[in-house]
Amino acid sequence: MTNNTIKLTLDGEVIEIARGATLLDAAQQAGVDIPVICYHEATSPNGLCRICVVDVDGGRVLQPACVAECQADSKVETRNQRVERSRRTILEMLNASVNLDEAPEIQQMMDDYAADEARFPDAHIREHTLIDDNPFYVRDYEQCVLCWRCVQVCAEDAQFTFALTLKNRGHETSVATAFDISMTESPCVFCGQCIGVCPTGALKPKAQWGMEQGWSDEEMRQNTRRARKREREDGDGE
Ligand code: SF4
Ligand code: FES
Repeated sequence: MTNNTIKLTLDGEVIEIARGATLLDAAQQAGVDIPVICYHEATSPNGLCRICVVDVDGGRVLQPACVAECQADSKVETRNQRVERSRRTILEMLNASVNLDEAPEIQQMMDDYAADEARFPDAHIREHTLIDDNPFYVRDYEQCVLCWRCVQVCAEDAQFTFALTLKNRGHETSVATAFDISMTESPCVFCGQCIGVCPTGALKPKAQWGMEQGWSDEEMRQNTRRARKREREDGDGE
């Protein structure tokens, strides 16, 4: 062990890891799988969803592995009964409020943790109208788990465009453009990075969505090239 490393016990195995590493780093180094939803390697971890919680020294509160730093000589259990119960409840709450039909990784977690789809029968699923306001992609926030990844990748983590933010509070919270302006009026440059990091079907390329709707070739051409078509009609384009 050097000054730059520490030792801890993870699921019964002693491992050595760089000082400052997170518990998720330690698990990955040890080949232990910890589920994540809000965490993405391309974005700054914020510890929002709590699906990655682990038990550190039997502490009163479980620790979110994606942001909690490894502590020297600690004993970490990544999947004991407390951890499983916590992850199961998070999944059941998510399932009760969000349409997860197009979130295969989360559905797999539901199976892995034996989550009960009927656990909260009186919960209200969040309702949003699909937003189709540009030629490049659609937004269906009924499928949004509010992981924040799209907002981050649009901001300091990658694109520095800041087209996305949050609106409303509590159950009504949603990702949105500032003042709910259309995406074409926003600073969005349609780089597609938000779609790339979204863990659900909330953000979808327009062409993919059109295929799912059964668009004809002509509908596809018209609906995915509106900006250019408008330019041509205005006499400004090619
Ligand atoms: S739209 Fe996708 S990436 Fe953005 S917060 Fe919702 S689930 Fe996360
Ligand atoms: S993945 Fe760690 S809190 Fe969401």
